[in-house]
Amino acid sequence: MQVLVTGGAGFIGSNLAERLLADGHRVVALDNLDPYYDLNIKRRNLNTCRKVGEDRFEFVEGSITDESLVKEVIAGRGVDVIFHEAAKAGVRPSVEQPKEYNANNVGGLLTVLETAADNGVDRFVNASSSSVYGVPEYLPYDEDHPNHPKSPYAVTKRSAEYYCNVYDDLQDLPTVSLRYFTVYGPRMRPNMAISNFVSRCLNSKPPIIYGDGEQTRDFTFVDDVVDANLALLDTDAADGETMNIGSSDNISIRKLAEYVVEETGADIDIVHEERKDADARHTHADVSKASDLIDYEPSVDIRQGVSRFIDWYRENRDWYEPLVRN
Ligand SMILES: NC(=O)c1ccc[n+]([C@@H]2O[C@H](COP(=O)([O-])OP(=O)(O)OC[C@H]3O[C@@H](n4cnc5c(N)ncnc54)[C@H](O)[C@@H]3O)[C@@H](O)[C@H]2O)c1
Repeated sequence: MQVLVTGGAGFIGSNLAERLLADGHRVVALDNLDPYYDLNIKRRNLNTCRKVGEDRFEFVEGSITDESLVKEVIAGRGVDVIFHEAAKAGVRPSVEQPKEYNANNVGGLLTVLETAADNGVDRFVNASSSSVYGVPEYLPYDEDHPNHPKSPYAVTKRSAEYYCNVYDDLQDLPTVSLRYFTVYGPRMRPNMAISNFVSRCLNSKPPIIYGDGEQTRDFTFVDDVVDANLALLDTDAADGETMNIGSSDNISIRKLAEYVVEETGADIDIVHEERKDADARHTHADVSKASDLIDYEPSVDIRQGVSRFIDWYRENRDWYEPLVRN
């Protein structure tokens, strides 16, 4: 199958591309190498894909907002399935740059959707986010929970879902939106809690928690997210749907920091600093819809995932660590 992974140089996109290539598919990654975090990490991600895929992997540097380039990629390669991972991904910076987030995450998505519909693409899988829920009225969130997006980023993610539904209904383009819940694992974005905690502990610095640490999250290991996406290559059961993709356990940031301290063997006390707003206080996924439709079952619990990430981090310290903001 010929697959397009937008955002294929990023964390989730490159993990997905690597698995697709290992499974024998042809992959084209379209990514504009947005400098949101260090580009050396993205270049390493692409090199990993090249090694696995050899001549079945192609990288196209450019933006999802560039109509002629998107057309050239989709029509020119005869793309069958699109995994749309490209986005400006940070919640906090979106408050400062709402127009840029909208242009990328909504405008860019529309360009890819429109071109996919024009060129008979079989399925469009959209990376959405638990941030669309905002403040919980009840937990865990199921997909019927009302949406109260609390940041420009979350608004773009909800808008993208609406557009996917419209294209599924009106343009005969099967679409599925997956609402990811805090994804982590090898090659993760360096400005996220787990990578920061691990980096600081391995360098004998205290992990910093913003606020009281009682915020809770579903931390979802990237392999589970990749599995959910891959399942959609073989089934139309979720076409037109939006589904939560979360983890098997929900823990507080404080507990997470304690796990990291224990697993790294650091002899260190956790530090608290003032909480920054825009991030939801609690997120927790009900994944029964994905379980019913695509047999989704998160397989990596937080202890295993943290331990696997620390092992990976130690092995890749020479190029990954100096790039982690401390
Ligand atoms: N990581 C998480 O916890 C998480 C949670 C919920 C949703 N998501 C969503 O999953 C997707 C992947 O996230 P990630 O964590 O891998 O982030 P990432 O920043 O590592 O990857 C996103 C990639 O998209 C690229 N990109 C941005 N704008 C682009 C444009 N205009 N044209 C082409 N490429 C562009 C970036 O260069 C980057 O490589 C995003 O859509 C994000 O919103 C991630």
